[in-house]
Amino acid sequence: MPVIAVIGAQWGDEGKGKVVDMLAEKADIVVRFSGGDNAGHTIINPYGKFALQLVPSGIFYPDAVCIIGNGVVVNPEVLFKEINTLNQRGISTDNLVISDRANLIMPYHLALEGLEEEARGKDAIGTTRNGIGPAFADKTARRGIRAADLLDKEVFAKRLASILEYKNTIFTGTYGVAPLSLDEIYNKYCEFGERMTPYIRETTAIIDEAIKRGEHILLEGAQGTLLDPDFGTYPYATSSSPLAGGASVGAGIGPTRIDAVLGLFKAYITRVGAGPMPTRLDDETGELLRKQGNEYGTVSGRPRDCGWFDSVAARYSTRINGFTGAAITKLDNLDTLTYLRICTAYELDGEIIDYFPATIQALERVKPVYEEMPGWQTSITDILKFEDLPRQARDYINRLEELIGCPVNLICVGPERGQTIQKSPVL
Ligand code: IMP
Repeated sequence: MPVIAVIGAQWGDEGKGKVVDMLAEKADIVVRFSGGDNAGHTIINPYGKFALQLVPSGIFYPDAVCIIGNGVVVNPEVLFKEINTLNQRGISTDNLVISDRANLIMPYHLALEGLEEEARGKDAIGTTRNGIGPAFADKTARRGIRAADLLDKEVFAKRLASILEYKNTIFTGTYGVAPLSLDEIYNKYCEFGERMTPYIRETTAIIDEAIKRGEHILLEGAQGTLLDPDFGTYPYATSSSPLAGGASVGAGIGPTRIDAVLGLFKAYITRVGAGPMPTRLDDETGELLRKQGNEYGTVSGRPRDCGWFDSVAARYSTRINGFTGAAITKLDNLDTLTYLRICTAYELDGEIIDYFPATIQALERVKPVYEEMPGWQTSITDILKFEDLPRQARDYINRLEELIGCPVNLICVGPERGQTIQKSPVL
């Protein structure tokens, strides 16, 4: 039985938490495969409202094994805070597993990111400042510390000492700030290591055996396609791949074993942090979408920029992820609008183009070409069947389906599990 990857198709915040929470009902294993605690997955279910940053959204189903995969960077401090909050609210984390290959976020990553962002001045990326970029940079530079390293204190001590010596030359030499203390970090992370030990496992075998038994596996994406370091709005991007290809690497599962790739698109588009966004609305419609849709960062509280649905970006996203289906989220946030716009092409320097340019300079210059459709101006939050949606809402979804280039499987009309219309099966 199937392995399904749930992928953010825009700039993140597409409502992945809710959809994963819903699909996890049938899952035996849920795996987070990229990012770190830069993610904020909002979930509203019978246990209440939760904002998860690291723990996979399947944690609310006691029988599901929840894996933090090798592709995730883990800040142990954030992880234990999250575990404590879940436990205090009656949610067991006994089925949580952390890949022994997952890299750790260290105190110097957080400190360096702050200094780097300040040094960038007006060109700051607007990162979450959770140390994600520096941790992935160290992973690639082969200077990372992985979960497995905490299991052997001697190995850990040696590795940390040599890495910190190098980091401290940057703190003192480049930035003129005080060095970090080896003893403090060592002691703190040894404590974390003791707490993490029961969770740390070789995870690819767990997944492989589950696939062979025909179990259901959900690969839970974080961030979104347009933040991918290769294909996103580089350098205004994140540092690990949120794509379907990233799911394969970050969970340790071959691409041929993924049966369905569900792309999540908000019914409009949002972005948080700096960088271009062709359909950004700096007017009262943008403000209305932000207020009505509560478009503020789950963790940071930062206001998100809002704009019309961008089908050029959507087709690009479908192409590079190979979506087998799409979920359209937050359709209800368009309920009060008299008209809707969809960007169908870009105009770049007087020429109509149908591709997502590589450079932020070109993306800043493109003008969206819009088509307009009437709004439905009625509440759709209680509707459970596609046929019962107002005609204008059905027309909007059907048009998105044509433009995105894959079937719409799910439509979300509210934040709760049940507020979801199945237009066609995910698999
Ligand atoms: P970083 O991932 O913290 O390095 O931030 C890089 C960029 O990705 C910034 O623009 C962030 O706002 C954005 N970003 C990172 N995680 C998320 C997310 O979960 N949702 C939306 N944007 C994100």
